Amino acid sequence: EAEVITDIAAMRNWSRSSKYQQQSPTPKTLALVPTMGFLHAGHLSLVRRARSLADLVAVSIYVNPGQFSPTEDLSTYPSDLAGDLRKLADAGGVDAVFCPRNLYDYGGGGGKVRRVDGGGEERGAVSCVEGEHETWIRVEGLEKGLCGRSRPVFFRGVATVVAKLFNIVEPDFALFGKKDYQQWRVICRMVRDLNFSVEIIGSEIVREVDGLAMSSRNVHLSPEEREKALSINKSLSKAKFAAENGQETCQRMKLLIIQSITEAGGRIDYAEIVEQETLKPVEVITSPVVICVAAWFGNVRLIDNMEINI
Ligand code: PAJ
Repeated sequence: EAEVITDIAAMRNWSRSSKYQQQSPTPKTLALVPTMGFLHAGHLSLVRRARSLADLVAVSIYVNPGQFSPTEDLSTYPSDLAGDLRKLADAGGVDAVFCPRNLYDYGGGGGKVRRVDGGGEERGAVSCVEGEHETWIRVEGLEKGLCGRSRPVFFRGVATVVAKLFNIVEPDFALFGKKDYQQWRVICRMVRDLNFSVEIIGSEIVREVDGLAMSSRNVHLSPEEREKALSINKSLSKAKFAAENGQETCQRMKLLIIQSITEAGGRIDYAEIVEQETLKPVEVITSPVVICVAAWFGNVRLIDNMEINI
């Protein structure tokens, strides 16, 4: 049975006392899997990987208002804590589940979460956190491109909450899915640049049998939209094949992806071919790159990517 912890001090206590047990001469290692809940097989693959890496595994479940803008889907983000705990148990169990209530409430009456925005100039440039919290981590270059263009507060919100989780849980390892490729790279850079004492592990994308990348947001797709959304994986696979065989220019590959997703009824946010570490766009593939796509199907924004290792 996993221990479900909601209190920050209790979480830190659990972590320290579990790692440093008197009987054992060396401290146990701890791996953290940060999530926003509504767990699926993608999350569970991170949990399994975590268990193979470390003595202890903690999963955090927290829908972070700091990474949503007031115009995004914070209030409709799916959640099911009981279901999540069952899935974790079925997947072999974890040692602790950290479910904090509000990581931006410091007891001074602030830390409110705002869900609607009047719009205006600031629109899109603020998150759903207001009140006492005013420290944000920005990975200035990496946060700008790809998803950062349409979600300007997203990566500072992710970097900040992950830093908070690292300071509370004090893990030796933390696991991130390559599904959120830019997020993984942003966290790697933050950890390097700020000398966090944690090793970041990037884990492969888990897909449905038909190729759709698993995502908590997939439940919001109608059956028709879900069918149309397969165009993302299909066009990415084609582009990857073409790239590996040197058949198409980057310009053409991006165009083909945009065409097939648009023809299927999706609305492209971006389709880009970028260097794997810097996420800088390339014209010609001469080093390892990743093809990244974001597209809307109905009200659901989906992202996916494929690495090309040449
Ligand atoms: P969430 O979307 O719940 O994802 C939690 C972790 O699971 C992330 O590292 C994500 O990349 C990984 N993941 C999601 N779908 C996956 C898939 N199909 N295959 C492999 N891994 C997958 O990402 C977040 O939450 C948040 O931004 C968070 C890092 C928790 C910060 O709030």
